[in-house]
Amino acid sequence: MSTQARTFRIAPSILSADFARLGEEVRQVLAAGADWIHFDVMDNHYVPNLTFGPMVCQALGPHARTPGGQVAPIDVHLMVRPVDALAQAFARAGADCISFHPDASAHAHRSVQAIHAAGCKAGLAFNPAQPLDALDWLIDDIDLILIMSVNPGFGGQSFIESALRKIEQARQRIDACGKDIRLQVDGGIKPDNIRRVADAGADTFVAGSAIFGQPDYAAVIASMRAALRQ
Ligand code: DX5
Ligand code: ZN
Repeated sequence: MSTQARTFRIAPSILSADFARLGEEVRQVLAAGADWIHFDVMDNHYVPNLTFGPMVCQALGPHARTPGGQVAPIDVHLMVRPVDALAQAFARAGADCISFHPDASAHAHRSVQAIHAAGCKAGLAFNPAQPLDALDWLIDDIDLILIMSVNPGFGGQSFIESALRKIEQARQRIDACGKDIRLQVDGGIKPDNIRRVADAGADTFVAGSAIFGQPDYAAVIASMRAALRQ
């Protein structure tokens, strides 16, 4: 599918937002043109950092509104082990999509089933050294593939170039299966590399420090969208 035929989504990661003003940050970044809110959940076990839990997701729900008042999707990225109990807690807390790392679940197919049973979309996240093998038996059951272009744990890292090859492979798998699966990339996404990531096959872009590290969120998001239109 040509890049023009795809609907691009910008999903700012609140990992780089001002944690003392999270509700306001969510409202501001949606008013600046973001599509989704990306929630980076870390347990200091699966990854070497600790962020926020379901209660924060619950509290931010009412703030996740576009300027027109529409509900903006809360896209939860679980960098946790084990997966299932927290996935259920985030589903209850208002998550729309819940992605997890298949190597963090003892039974990844069951985890996907449980996320769907809780009424959420399900995604699989792949670390830089992780092959896409889990897709062999799960691609027909998921709604989103998340390719990590940094090693999970921290914002502000540099984009890992080999992720482009994995994005291409994931795009080929999606096109071959014919399902409507979003291809999301997370880590080191900037206005000056987002086009290359889209050309490799991505349609959904997580960006934390590129957006929240700047004074004008709308200008950054507009520059990303302009790069995607080129
Ligand atoms: C993994 C996190 C980060 C974050 C994006 O550690 O998932 O990738 O979302 O952060 P930036 O955009 O600053 O790389
Ligand atoms: Zn993430």
